Amino acid sequence: SLTPVILAGGSGSRLWPLSRQHYPKQFLALGDQGGVDVPASLLQQTFARLDGLPLTPALVVGSEPHRFLLAEQLRQAGVEDATLLLEPEGRNTAPAIACAALHARRDGGDPLLLVLPADHLIRDCQAFQASVGAAASLAASGELVTFGVVPERAETGFGYIQRGARLGPAGYRLARFVEKPDRATAEGYLASGDYLWNSGMFVFRASRYLDELAARQPAMLAACRAAVEGAREDLDFLRLNAAAFCQSPADSIDYAVMEHADRAAVVPLEAGWSDIGGFQALWEASPKDADDNVVSGDVQLHDCRGLLVHAEQRLVSALGVEDLVIVETQDAVLVTPRRRSQEVKTLVEALLAAG
Ligand code: GDD
Ligand code: MG
Repeated sequence: SLTPVILAGGSGSRLWPLSRQHYPKQFLALGDQGGVDVPASLLQQTFARLDGLPLTPALVVGSEPHRFLLAEQLRQAGVEDATLLLEPEGRNTAPAIACAALHARRDGGDPLLLVLPADHLIRDCQAFQASVGAAASLAASGELVTFGVVPERAETGFGYIQRGARLGPAGYRLARFVEKPDRATAEGYLASGDYLWNSGMFVFRASRYLDELAARQPAMLAACRAAVEGAREDLDFLRLNAAAFCQSPADSIDYAVMEHADRAAVVPLEAGWSDIGGFQALWEASPKDADDNVVSGDVQLHDCRGLLVHAEQRLVSALGVEDLVIVETQDAVLVTPRRRSQEVKTLVEALLAAG
């Protein structure tokens, strides 16, 4: 069987002030195509996209302060059978997935895990589901499977996958995995035509992932094992043992496992994928008016092009400007050139440090 593991513990700081520490982007209705009464959040869209696949109940791994948001959004989306695993604080994705894998193995079973970030956008559900099917069959034969997206630019915020020999009808051997290369390296990969972006979704057998951790990250595995064994059930939540979990080193699956993995595979994903990694990506993924502006809320534009404008509380008006991001919220306003919007993360870190 295939068990979804939904990673919902991120902070989405590149979308500040739209995305907040206590209300990060997975809970926002971004990129929703409409057509329903209430626009779905990215988390809810992640569940909707699984509709029709043969799955066992999902494991959602999220963070303690978001627990009521998580529960409420799942209830709203009609998801009744998911287990909510709560982390006392974020330790990045490798421990989050480890806890899900250990929980999935609690009765001795060994399901295939479909690891999905809760904050991505995928336009073509059918293509996505077809790739998941292909990945599941490779994972069933013991592979660690990634989903590769044809790269569009020398993005340094992604992992890169070098494609090797064909592996069955729908996948390739993963020849090499490089997480977040520097710009020159990323440009080389893009030019070579040999590399795909890592989408951040994975399929593998729970035991295969735990064996990788046993070999490479024994301290992480031990901490997560103790956190799951000592977990406490509370209402709708399963709280990881905090003291144990906090002993775990923090690292992502990409650095901790994928960069070193031997038997790994990549399945191509051509499904209109975006990780909405910042305002540039949000602008690209959103419907635009005739002047390439993306607007939401009470916005008036004159002679403007290529803007992303979001107004929450007040009228926002702009005249004769191009390629800006303008985000207005109750207590914060952001203005930045669209092409520099990745740097918002640095800005937010400085704000947090300044208190
Ligand atoms: N539960 C939990 N706990 N979830 C987390 C944590 C955590 O501590 N940290 C991050 N997440 C969630 C995020 O919300 C997101 O959905 C997902 O895990 C990935 O984390 P990011 O922090 O967004 O990773 P990234 O964007 O730097 O890189 C990953 O995604 C890229 C594609 O978007 C990597 O897998 C890259 O290789 C990949 O290209
Ligand atoms: Mg991300």
